[in-house]
Amino acid sequence: MTYVPAEDRYEKMVYRRCGASGVQLPAVSLGLWHNFGHDTPHQTKRDICRAAFDHGITHFDLANNYGPPPGSAEEAFGAILATDFAGYRDELIISSKAGYGMWPGPYGEWGSRKYLVASCDQSLKRMGLDYVDIFYSHRFDPDTPLEETMGALDYIVRSGRALYAGISSYNSERTREAVAILQDLGTPCLIHQPSYNMLNRWVERDGLKQTLIELGIGSIAFTPLAQGMLTKKYLGGIPADSRAAQDKSLFPSMLTDRAIGNIRKLNELAESRGQTLAQMAIAWVLRDGGITTALIGASRPSQVVDCVGAIGNLDFTADELTLIDEYADEEQINLWAQSAELDA
Ligand SMILES: NC(=O)c1ccc[n+]([C@@H]2O[C@H](COP(=O)([O-])OP(=O)(O)OC[C@H]3O[C@@H](n4cnc5c(N)ncnc54)[C@H](OP(=O)(O)O)[C@@H]3O)[C@@H](O)[C@H]2O)c1
Repeated sequence: MTYVPAEDRYEKMVYRRCGASGVQLPAVSLGLWHNFGHDTPHQTKRDICRAAFDHGITHFDLANNYGPPPGSAEEAFGAILATDFAGYRDELIISSKAGYGMWPGPYGEWGSRKYLVASCDQSLKRMGLDYVDIFYSHRFDPDTPLEETMGALDYIVRSGRALYAGISSYNSERTREAVAILQDLGTPCLIHQPSYNMLNRWVERDGLKQTLIELGIGSIAFTPLAQGMLTKKYLGGIPADSRAAQDKSLFPSMLTDRAIGNIRKLNELAESRGQTLAQMAIAWVLRDGGITTALIGASRPSQVVDCVGAIGNLDFTADELTLIDEYADEEQINLWAQSAELDA
């Protein structure tokens, strides 16, 4: 049956301006890192995307390497665009990225112009798109001049392959350098995509969050649920259908006794606010306006609906924030620390 999006979809979401740009993004965005590869039935992927759009999620985030195998998430999303979302392209903000290993040899990863332009072309082909809305440098490349990587983003925008440029997991200092280069080239940086959640607060420590506010650049916080740790699912062990049971990127060793103890306390606080822990974790990321949107992942449509429910209460009292600080202790879960040149 032909999919018709919910008529009231824009009433179920709030939209926030992306830095000083003209773009507004939904408070909750959907990423297709996991659960969109060949290990997931296509109908599940369609159902997740439909649930998202039905609830006002207009931003879908991809990358060349999402799968497994790499590329398959973009192919799946291309199929969904062709069927369910045909006719709605102008209501969507679609992003892709390049930076991690994608094909063999010296031109298949990092930040050269050779790699970024070729990868962008491949992504467009897989998704059946003429352009993406945002194209990112997925990680900082210490061995390529930043001028080359930013020059490639500028070229990708100027050549019509993308409307806007973004960077991901660059630290505050590198962000300032990248933003200045893009500014000089005349292609402003729209957005930064860092990891950020209650158990991974590097953007506060590094000063990136404040830098982005200062520079008028939007931000999209990935893994706001710490890959699912910030839900109540791991409080009684590791469920068989959870990410931690799948040997992907959430390793059982991350679920330390200390982390689980803190998550239990955070869950109690969420309940006292009338929220699920997932909802409170998303609201916390968005709490002071410093982050434009929370970039979630989902393995089923009901999770998307639960997460969108976060917008029902985005406010915290000072006491609640103090209590959260007590339990929002950093865990060793930042898999992207190397790109940001952090010690941990
Ligand atoms: N730029 C980068 O380098 C980078 C890196 C990583 C991710 N990202 C982006 O960020 C996106 C999100 O990453 P993520 O998937 O790790 O984010 P996340 O939102 O922290 O974790 C998503 C996982 O949490 C669980 N979940 C979600 N909602 C739930 C709910 N309401 N109740 C219970 N469990 C819930 C699901 O896990 P189960 O499978 O256990 O159900 C889901 O797959 C990615 O898709 C990608 O677009 C970017």
